Amino acid sequence: MSQLPVRPGRIRRAPEGFLTPEQVGDVAAGRRDFLRQAFAAASVTALGVSAAHAADGDPAILNLPEHSTSLGRPVAERPYGLPSQYEAGLKRRESPGLTRVAAASVSFAPLQGLFGIITPSGLHFERHHQGWHDIDPARHRLMINGLVKEARVYTMDDLMRLPSVSRIHFIECGANTGMEWGNVAVPTVQYTHGMLSCSEFTGVPLSVLLDDCGIDMKRAKFVLAEGADGSSMTRTIPLDRALDDVIVAWGQNGEMLRPENGYPLRLVVPGIQGVSWVKWLRRIEVGDQPWATKDEAVHYIDLLPDGTHRQYTSIQECKSVITTPSGGQTLLDRGFHNISGLAWSGRGKIRRVDVSTDGGRNWRTARLETPVLSKALTRFNIDWVWDGSPAILQSRAMDDTGYVQPTYRQLREVRGTRSIYHNNAIQSWKLAESGDVSNVQAY
Ligand code: MTE
Repeated sequence: MSQLPVRPGRIRRAPEGFLTPEQVGDVAAGRRDFLRQAFAAASVTALGVSAAHAADGDPAILNLPEHSTSLGRPVAERPYGLPSQYEAGLKRRESPGLTRVAAASVSFAPLQGLFGIITPSGLHFERHHQGWHDIDPARHRLMINGLVKEARVYTMDDLMRLPSVSRIHFIECGANTGMEWGNVAVPTVQYTHGMLSCSEFTGVPLSVLLDDCGIDMKRAKFVLAEGADGSSMTRTIPLDRALDDVIVAWGQNGEMLRPENGYPLRLVVPGIQGVSWVKWLRRIEVGDQPWATKDEAVHYIDLLPDGTHRQYTSIQECKSVITTPSGGQTLLDRGFHNISGLAWSGRGKIRRVDVSTDGGRNWRTARLETPVLSKALTRFNIDWVWDGSPAILQSRAMDDTGYVQPTYRQLREVRGTRSIYHNNAIQSWKLAESGDVSNVQAY
């Protein structure tokens, strides 16, 4: 793990001469006043800076640059749009040495560079057990068999004419943050928490298909989902969940799924660890007991301190992380900073997120940005004035069941330090006097 490329995130700069905490006054007196004062001071400084630069020949404000005086590029030059060339550093990254072959590996989403709650499809994390494929939808089929009145085989056309739904949900690999169980292992939020993404998925509810085939309700208790790749990826899902909010999806963020994310068909199992979101979905079998396949008997089980393990602990419990400032970033100036992050729960909605800047001694409640959706990422923000002294930044989420995200100490008391899956502990970022932010475990 020590060979990870330690790449600083986007460097955040507040204008020089920004407000001191004393000038800002009492933050609690009102966020609007606070921001008004902050921006007034900032713009005075900014004007001073621009005028000085303009005198040095900086064209940004007073001299019109070429793009303001010439014809731009034509429409449809790029029939499918791409990010700006200046955003080339924002990308999925793999962790060299994590797995022996790149086909059976992970690429992490750059959470430190994203806004809001939707992950752009091209930056959605990837986890493949046996590589990805670009499957011809005309040849793809979905079979439903087992304890049903009539087994059926559907084409993509058959599926896409059925009543569809579109819902925003997060997907988190059960192994997300799995490298940090015993100690700090990786430097940035991309590597600590980047097996996490959130999209609007479109598809037909699985309940519609099961109804179409006629489940044997007396005997049926579980379904098994199977993928069409070479990894024999199969996962058991209890029938009550399968009939609840599970979607057989072809759409992601308004377009077809990307091949890396299961094109043309994947299962969306809201709130449940990513492994059950079977990609390149080819078969659903209805049965009366769990299958205990390799990916639920050998992998994706929770090792406990006494050497036993827990099986079928699929729900992704409530969790949060500050994405800016986060490990690898640098605050260049003291003064106002927006602390921003993500919170989520596999059990429902986020009710509250508290943020500490002193390692958990004091907490303030962050603003939850709308929409706050069930089993989706929720964006939180909180104002902060950094006085230049060392700080430990943490976020602690609570979901609408009342469950509160645990500290490392609390989690380790129950789970030990040698697990892989389901680490939802509070993340700490240490801010040094230099402004450098690094990954630490405060307790
Ligand atoms: N489905 C198939 N068929 N093959 C796979 O390797 N990986 C699983 C799941 N579905 C996998 C799969 C795992 S472990 C995770 S975390 C998610 O897909 C990752 O989905 P993503 O690659 O779209 O992020």
